[in-house]
Amino acid sequence: MNAIPAPILMMENVTVDFDGFKAVNDVSLSLSPGELRILIGPNGAGKSTICDTIIGRVRATSGRITFKDHNITNLAEQEIVRLGICRKFQTPGVLPTLTVMQNLLVAARKNRAWWRALTTSVPADELASAEEILEKIGLTDRREIIAADLAHGEKQWLEIGMVVATDADLLLLDEPTAGMGPQDTQRTADLILSLLGRHAVLVIDHDMSFVEALNGYTTVLHQGQVLKEGTVAEVRADAQVAAVYLGRAKE
Ligand SMILES: Nc1ncnc2c1ncn2[C@@H]1O[C@H](COP(=O)(O)OP(=O)(O)O)[C@@H](O)[C@H]1O
Ligand SMILES: [Mg+2]
Repeated sequence: MNAIPAPILMMENVTVDFDGFKAVNDVSLSLSPGELRILIGPNGAGKSTICDTIIGRVRATSGRITFKDHNITNLAEQEIVRLGICRKFQTPGVLPTLTVMQNLLVAARKNRAWWRALTTSVPADELASAEEILEKIGLTDRREIIAADLAHGEKQWLEIGMVVATDADLLLLDEPTAGMGPQDTQRTADLILSLLGRHAVLVIDHDMSFVEALNGYTTVLHQGQVLKEGTVAEVRADAQVAAVYLGRAKE
């Protein structure tokens, strides 16, 4: 029997009102465990605000967010993180003075203080999983490099690796290809696809080549509202979506 699994994340009629301006307007969206969801839309559409709201950094004015059967709508960010959601921000947040490997170990530490992750001996299973992530993000040869010395794309991959190292069930990736060329963009898409199954991933972007490489179920946001949902092909073929994107291209 192929029962559809219960969603891991459910946003129901979420509105975020900033002093009368609805950055997010009655958005509903749900994600199954291990599934990919792509969220696209022009600048200012409300994509990052949706991420902020899921992780508890911004409060929903109305609506409800459920994660693994917990009502997280009004929980604090640390509590939401503890339940298993991890977010990568638009700008890379690696620890610049630590090596690639140290960054992964610090991200993976469970309840230990971050410096303990570096000063005490690392349990064998944590080392093994850090090695596995290094391989996945393609930085095995760069493990002893100080993060500040990485190329832009490598920093982004390391940060995705750090998010993976937390072992969260839901990863929120906000514009992971910002500033990347076509080759690095393709590699990022492959990396994200390799995470599915173990992790549900909500990825935000506005680069259509990246979205096409991911080729997952896509939600198009426009002025805080869901404009269209469907496969990448369906979204691409939609006249309203084209108008929103082409309209901006003309500006
Ligand atoms: N804290 C805030 N207060 C007021 N307006 C905000 C705040 N955060 C975002 N906005 C506005 O909400 C809209 C959506 O922003 P954002 O979610 O960052 O869009 P996107 O990530 O899709 O580019 C924008 O018009 C932005 O200026
Ligand atoms: Mg944004």
